[in-house]
Amino acid sequence: MNHLIIPLNREWKYAEKFSNSYINKDVSDDCFKNVQLPHTNKEIPYNCFDEKMYQFISCYRKTFSVSKEYKGKRVFVDFEGVMTYAKVYINGVELGEHKGGYTPFSFDLTDHLIYGDDNLLTVMVDSTERKDIPPFGFVIDYLCYGGIYREVNLRIVEDCFIQNIFAKPGKVLEEKKALSTEIYVHNKGNEQITVQAKVQLLNNDTVCGESVSEAVLEANDKSKLILNMDGLMDIELWGLENPHLYTVKATLLTNETELHSYEVKVGFRQAEFKSEGFYLNGERVKIRGLNRHQSFPYVGYAMPKRVQCKDADILKNELGLNLARTSHYPQSRHFLDRCDEIGLLVFEEIPGWQHIGDVEWQEVACNNVREMIERDWNHPSIILWGVRINESNDSHEFYLKTNDIAHKLDDTRQTGGVRCIPNSELLEDVYTMNDFNLDGVRAPLLNQQEVTGLDHDVPYLVTEYNGHMYPTKRFDQEERLNEHALRHAQVQNEMQTHDNIAGAIGWCAFDYNTHYEFGSGDRICYHGVMDMFRIPKFASYVYKSQLSPSKKVVLEPITLWARGERDECGVLPMTILTNCDSIEVITCEESKKYFPDKEQFPGLEYPPVTIHHLDQHQEWGSSWDDITFVGYVGDKEVAKKTFAKNPVPVKLEVKADDLSLNSGDMDATRIVYKIVDQKGNVMPFINECINFEIEGEGEIIGPKSVGLIGGCIAVWVKTTGSVGKITMKASCSRFSAEDVLIQVSE
Ligand code: GAL
Repeated sequence: MNHLIIPLNREWKYAEKFSNSYINKDVSDDCFKNVQLPHTNKEIPYNCFDEKMYQFISCYRKTFSVSKEYKGKRVFVDFEGVMTYAKVYINGVELGEHKGGYTPFSFDLTDHLIYGDDNLLTVMVDSTERKDIPPFGFVIDYLCYGGIYREVNLRIVEDCFIQNIFAKPGKVLEEKKALSTEIYVHNKGNEQITVQAKVQLLNNDTVCGESVSEAVLEANDKSKLILNMDGLMDIELWGLENPHLYTVKATLLTNETELHSYEVKVGFRQAEFKSEGFYLNGERVKIRGLNRHQSFPYVGYAMPKRVQCKDADILKNELGLNLARTSHYPQSRHFLDRCDEIGLLVFEEIPGWQHIGDVEWQEVACNNVREMIERDWNHPSIILWGVRINESNDSHEFYLKTNDIAHKLDDTRQTGGVRCIPNSELLEDVYTMNDFNLDGVRAPLLNQQEVTGLDHDVPYLVTEYNGHMYPTKRFDQEERLNEHALRHAQVQNEMQTHDNIAGAIGWCAFDYNTHYEFGSGDRICYHGVMDMFRIPKFASYVYKSQLSPSKKVVLEPITLWARGERDECGVLPMTILTNCDSIEVITCEESKKYFPDKEQFPGLEYPPVTIHHLDQHQEWGSSWDDITFVGYVGDKEVAKKTFAKNPVPVKLEVKADDLSLNSGDMDATRIVYKIVDQKGNVMPFINECINFEIEGEGEIIGPKSVGLIGGCIAVWVKTTGSVGKITMKASCSRFSAEDVLIQVSE
């Protein structure tokens, strides 16, 4: 044993209050409830609530034992994320505090443990919006929730151990590549030791390269060992299509005895923003991205690994994006790991929103830069560090410092810092700008040099557009849904036609809960191209339709096919979001071909089709018929969609993201329900309530009875920890859905 991780995620005790006495073992936790991590301190309704309801101080207690065989080792507790402030105690002794809800922290428990017996870990969690901790201090347009919302582990190592590795691929575009590794070692022992350090580059089990060195480690001291490899042959690059990952394994030995071995994943890729655009592995890639908040209905941030990974899959595969911005904070490592695995680029940034606090606050922000980079520097997906507070004013000294920290820690990545104020000072490598120029009248995007105030081009990326400029609900009127989609298409089109814009990241992927100062008065910002349940709005197909049809055929007419839904009736002009070469539209009156609108959208690889005229009568008081859309790639029919003239609901359709889950740590999956008509199209205005019933080793997250929203709803089901089966039943007054059977295995 030289590196043991013991998950501490099950069987916590939780109380919505804190008293100093809770740090003592002999104080009972009768008034506490059993919870598991990830945990939100307060479940909230989907919308229409008071956000103060989760802003309080709470207490988490975990009793655990460490076997006597580990006496003499080092035992740490690692917290991955606690919102927003944590004070940690072991067996009545205070270990320390951590400020900030998005970055990890650890404490050494070794000297306070009772081996072979119960130990009590107590965490005081302050989830109030403390003015001394970013992003708080003024208003912000998203909720930060509360609780121990990410995982906690015990880590058992020797006295001398590896704390972190930064593995930096080099000479990436040359035939013979290099790898430089910084190994951060901590000798917590009281004696100086001599160690051999070995680093291997592994492709599955094959050793592709190795480097060995010797070092003297002083007692109670930290060291950085640098081991390099050169001449690495036959190394596959990490890219968007083939995100090949390697393992870097570092081992510390003393007198041939292994002290510690530690592994990280890396990808060989070169990423660079230049004034002519963004280059990945030497090739220009236009960035097509969306911003992601990590929040979900009811439980806020507290979702387990599978759900975090699913978001990355949605962004890459359902939305066809090549980048996600983790607005406005470091997000779950599971999300980032998945981005590495599937080839989705990431722009990660420190917590904050418009407001810069005092010196103490800025110190926390600087720590956030360090903690973010030290946690995430090995992810090949991350191509840019955001080191400004989103949309803040210039702050020369502060931003000199954040840039300096980032560059010193990581000399392989550029920095950005998201701003919305033109002519703001560029201390970063990339000018990252929120451009909300598009308002339905003005041009889709501003001119780079007008924004920067410089007389030359610099690396430039649009980091937000749309959002609050055109909030749109999934169940809004058809004309609005159409305009919402067109605005996304217009910006994407525009950025493609300017070489000095590296790409554009829209606001945003998913609707999100917000404070009362923002949103639609119901605590939701309806800014997503998908809703909070990750159910698509039409605008999402603007992005998806930019995928090659060889990957996924997209044929999505923006229509509810109803004469009276739009103002003054009719369905025109109609936009069809598609990656087909041509569309045939068949009504009882005509069959006509339409082609992508290259004139209006010259920048888009797959422009939408626009229909301005249909022989089907539009007027109030004439007959009404079915319509069929057929998509062709070349001459080949690849997709077909029919809308009924007289839609009626025929079933409650159900689809689960996963039918097998894991026991052990909490696992969860989403199940989407929708009422569809005889042609399989959702009935967006049906007014039905869905009742869920669950049997077996699962629990429903959120309420057991919900109203459909725009004809659909989703629910997440989580495991209890045991192996077995879950049966999820759902019904409404008209239909029952098919049961969903989920297998929970070890
Ligand atoms: C930006 C901000 C985002 C979000 C967005 C809404 O100003 O950076 O967090 O509020 O507006 O469009």
